[in-house]
Amino acid sequence: MDRILIEGGVPLEGLVTISGAKNAALPLMAACLLTDEPLELENVPDLADIASMQRLLQVLGVEARHLPGAPGKLTLTCENVLSTTAPYDLVRRMRASVLVLGPLVAREGIARVSLPGGCAIGTRPIDLHLAGLEAMGATIELADGYVTAKAPGGLKGGIVRLRSPSVGATENLMLAASLAKGPTEIHGAAREPEIVDLAHLLRAMGASVEGEGSPTLHITGADRLSGTRHAILPDRIEAGTYAMAAAITGGRVTLQSCRTELLGAAIAKLAECGVALEPTEDGMIASRANGPLKGVDVITQPFPGFATDLQAQFMALMCVAEGASMITETIFENRFMHAPELTRMGANITVHGSSALVRGVGRLTGAPVMATDLRASVSLVLAALAADGQTEINRVYHLDRGYEQIERKLGNLGARIERVA
Ligand code: UD1
Repeated sequence: MDRILIEGGVPLEGLVTISGAKNAALPLMAACLLTDEPLELENVPDLADIASMQRLLQVLGVEARHLPGAPGKLTLTCENVLSTTAPYDLVRRMRASVLVLGPLVAREGIARVSLPGGCAIGTRPIDLHLAGLEAMGATIELADGYVTAKAPGGLKGGIVRLRSPSVGATENLMLAASLAKGPTEIHGAAREPEIVDLAHLLRAMGASVEGEGSPTLHITGADRLSGTRHAILPDRIEAGTYAMAAAITGGRVTLQSCRTELLGAAIAKLAECGVALEPTEDGMIASRANGPLKGVDVITQPFPGFATDLQAQFMALMCVAEGASMITETIFENRFMHAPELTRMGANITVHGSSALVRGVGRLTGAPVMATDLRASVSLVLAALAADGQTEINRVYHLDRGYEQIERKLGNLGARIERVA
């Protein structure tokens, strides 16, 4: 298994290009199941999760073509669905595989998807996905670790009320509603930028979609959807991560090809703790504003609140800040696994239920640490960049799921980072 070694203490300087958003690319890729025409996606990041989704789509009958010499371009064509089953072996690798459920049942009248099960950060049920499909006329059966959704005469538009604004459920239901007969209303929908990107795609494919970015979506399905070409929006979580990498090392980094406003409430929180974000024509420059970082309290919330996917990185930042910070996680029940690892690097963190009190210690020291999930592992990278001495990060496959070429990108900014097999 690969490890990453980082020798800390170098202020990051230079320019980094932000990749396309993994969490936008995954549902957009699943949309290819809604049409027999080619879907041409651009700015698709080269990540393990994208490869997992591609493998799953291929099992279902999708032809996937990467254009030679054109990185980030992926054409997906599903002339015929060859299988309506998403098998356990593929779904267990990546929970977002469940996003094929809605499009498959909408197109074929049946879909069988392995239940994704929990993961390190929480139990993560899919009850909202299933209740929404039921509201569109599907019957749902759970047996042998699989969920089967059936709608032999096709899905019908319906009224769906989500108890909480689940990103995945909103996406699955938007995909399904785009091929359902008649109008669907989704109340309590997620408002994340990735939802907005999916709405743009579905509209370009021929569905009527209104209200994206607000809690109420109105979608009227088409009898037939067409292919289209679409560029994936920039990864706001990657952008936020590199902004914090600049700040934690006391450097200055230009983030190219990203959009500051996609960071939502994180912009104000970063400013409050002393991270300067200056807008540029196609991104921003991130640096530490005058003086040391300051402890600031944060509560994770659905967009436009502070993203749970930036919580671990922010905790790393707060470890070296002046004063204390209370970090409260409201989206996932078990998302502080980075805290004990940061403590091994000298951080002072006390976790009480869903809150973590971080008392800033000024300096961290390198240590061997273990990555536990995607965002937790990158928080250890940030801590390592700022620490005295060497940090060895184990289980880096988590990082490869969501950070494109992280060693090269950080290396180009001056970080002393290397991957060893
Ligand atoms: C997506 C993102 C993930 C991000 C999360 C929250 C992708 C591929 N992943 O995950 O990076 O951290 O949004 O912004 O886009 N829930 C239920 N029932 C359901 C569905 C969800 O109770 O049917 C709960 C979950 O357990 C969790 C909360 O709702 O506690 C939020 O989950 P959700 O928004 O669905 O996250 P994902 O779509 O899985």
